[in-house]
Amino acid sequence: MGIPSDRAPASEPRADARFDPRFDPRFDPRVTPIPRRSMLALLGVSALGAASLAAVLEGCATPPPITVSLDVDVAALPVGAPTEVAFTMTVGQAVVDGSTWLVKQADGDLIAFDPRCTHATCAYRWSDEADRFQCGCHDGRFALDGTVLAGPPPRPLDRFPIRQTATGIEIDVPASFAAPKASLG
Ligand code: FES
Repeated sequence: MGIPSDRAPASEPRADARFDPRFDPRFDPRVTPIPRRSMLALLGVSALGAASLAAVLEGCATPPPITVSLDVDVAALPVGAPTEVAFTMTVGQAVVDGSTWLVKQADGDLIAFDPRCTHATCAYRWSDEADRFQCGCHDGRFALDGTVLAGPPPRPLDRFPIRQTATGIEIDVPASFAAPKASLG
């Protein structure tokens, strides 16, 4: 195989004794052109990478929540006294039993609490005597507005988005929802 005409063999003595390959533009990566074929290959790899990333992100996208209709007479709900309302929803082929704690505020607005304790997803209950929500698994306590009063829960009670309709209430439940664990107390 012949030697490219623009490259001298490394062993060939040079006439210029001051030659230093570090300063030879033929070895300078800043001025060495990328062959056209290599450039097209790089562009192809970049396009493929972008397409793969888009596919991965699409696969990771959170599925939209499921709207659940609750047959509730809003006018009959007591103010400041939480009411648990059970529902059933279908996720794919599965039927999931769930519930929500509805709290009617003095101004008539409604809150729909997720029935799972924010510590370890146990079911909690409302205590009229203690005037707070209580979780028996690890003694978590929540106020009427869902804020943490005591115990290990790391955040207030989660809420479902809620809307009043002509016939009752609609709530948006995450598609990932699962029934709470049985409370220990
Ligand atoms: S699951 Fe409720 S306090 Fe631990």
